[in-house]
Amino acid sequence: MTETRPEQLPFHLRGNYAPVADEVTVVDLPIAGALPPELCGVYMRNGPNPRSGVSGHWFTGDGMLHGVRLERGAAQWYRNRYVRGRTFTEGVEFVDANGSIDHSAGVNNTNVVQHAGRILALVESSFPVEVTRTLETVGVCDFGGHLTTSFTAHPKPCPRTGELHFFGYRFVMPFLTYHVLDAAGALVTSQVIDVPGPTMMHDFAITDRHVIFMDLPIVFDFELATQGRFPYAWSDSYGARLGVMPRGGDSADVRWFAIDPCYVFHPMNAYEEGATIVLDVARYPTLWRGDPEGISNAYVTRWTIDLAAGRVSERQLDDRPVEFPRADERLTGRRNRYGYAAANVFEGDDDDTKACALVKYDLQTGGVSAHEFGRGRTPSEGVFVPAAAHSGEDEGWVMQFV
Ligand SMILES: [Fe+2]
Repeated sequence: MTETRPEQLPFHLRGNYAPVADEVTVVDLPIAGALPPELCGVYMRNGPNPRSGVSGHWFTGDGMLHGVRLERGAAQWYRNRYVRGRTFTEGVEFVDANGSIDHSAGVNNTNVVQHAGRILALVESSFPVEVTRTLETVGVCDFGGHLTTSFTAHPKPCPRTGELHFFGYRFVMPFLTYHVLDAAGALVTSQVIDVPGPTMMHDFAITDRHVIFMDLPIVFDFELATQGRFPYAWSDSYGARLGVMPRGGDSADVRWFAIDPCYVFHPMNAYEEGATIVLDVARYPTLWRGDPEGISNAYVTRWTIDLAAGRVSERQLDDRPVEFPRADERLTGRRNRYGYAAANVFEGDDDDTKACALVKYDLQTGGVSAHEFGRGRTPSEGVFVPAAAHSGEDEGWVMQFV
């Protein structure tokens, strides 16, 4: 009988990335230092946590929510719970043996957001799964049967209208559909957007007046899928384009701008500046080229889309490899001065050799500062929380599980 030794596991199942075995509830947590008394509410994160202990890729595996409830300087509870969607409870996969897609199944392991009074656990292959403030699963959410595609894990709340903009992509036609939930949570827009192929479109951006799609060369690969491997890979022939659509427009209104091939999981923010759109992203010069499980580094990069001249200029803003870039969500689609990102540096196989930090960018001065967490400590995505509703940009806290 052979046994898998920990060092033989892929990195996404080892060390700080190893799945957590138990669901727990802990109350009245001890605090080192002091919690800002203004921070009141539940802070949640979502992530893959395979119940079996193994998964074929770091993007797969059952979703697990972790939540901590803060109230006037106290940490009232921590709990973690699996997202109990249909894949978890019934074992059904979102793609069946015949290749048919069932968006009501899925592992909902990527993000968790709140909109119109509902908390939604998200994965880009599937419908949302609604959960409660204590992390218990309510059930699959298809907006009264109106949603017919998957729901990105990175919808964009518009601070001007209260809408939630999102899209769904898939490997069969239509490849891309854009949607809007109104401020009350009703699905009010669904528009098919024409794209040349089935790319992995993880995220997008909005401004006050536009929606920006990133059609980048990580393309569905039928051969990988039939081998049971992660079915998306880098393509040298697909090219790379940004699509700019006026809000309220449709596929015919999208202007496509060619850019140098690259991949972006996550933009930081986008905004209008005269006849240009500024889009800051964490950009991978290449990703999964010849190795769908390979690791690459991303760098904060600015695309300036010149709508009059019809071209995009590109400038790397910093040389530290980062992911999960974010800005103050109250400024989504509007000019932000500050941004935040997690630096998770992979240096070989030893967890202890990683230099992990929270990085803060002052995009006005070009200043970059970092808080290093020390050896063996890995931060998750940092989320900015304003001290009060009307506090200025950067007046508040960045929250992360470490
Ligand atoms: Fe993501």
